[in-house]
Amino acid sequence: MSLSEFDPRPATIPVGEPLCALAELAPGHSKGFRVEGTETPVLIFLIRPIDAQNGEIYGYVNQCAHRSMPLDWVEGEFLDTEGKTIVCATHGAVFRIEDGICIDGPCPGKGLQALSLEVRDGQVYVSVPPRYR
Ligand code: FES
Repeated sequence: MSLSEFDPRPATIPVGEPLCALAELAPGHSKGFRVEGTETPVLIFLIRPIDAQNGEIYGYVNQCAHRSMPLDWVEGEFLDTEGKTIVCATHGAVFRIEDGICIDGPCPGKGLQALSLEVRDGQVYVSVPPRYR
């Protein structure tokens, strides 16, 4: 991909359509999406842990548990430099990848809103939380 082809905005996905192929998201990486066709468009993100086993993948609403801000400073960048935790760019809250619970920063014990994901035929599908339908 050349620099002129790089689009930093989150991909817009119609509700019910696959977000991406699992193979597009390498372990230790994250990717943001905007799901539309719901009552309220919803920003979400996917993460594959750096030590992901098989189809291991996690997804959360892109809204910090501290002040409800999007977590990414640079679009699609949700992880620390080692790819081991989720970090909010606004005030530095640190969340575990596997359950979205804040383990450091301004909102310890609070959690990100987890998404129900399904991998079907190599494609990642999300079930949008009821409050956005
Ligand atoms: S808004 Fe995320 S840490 Fe404050």
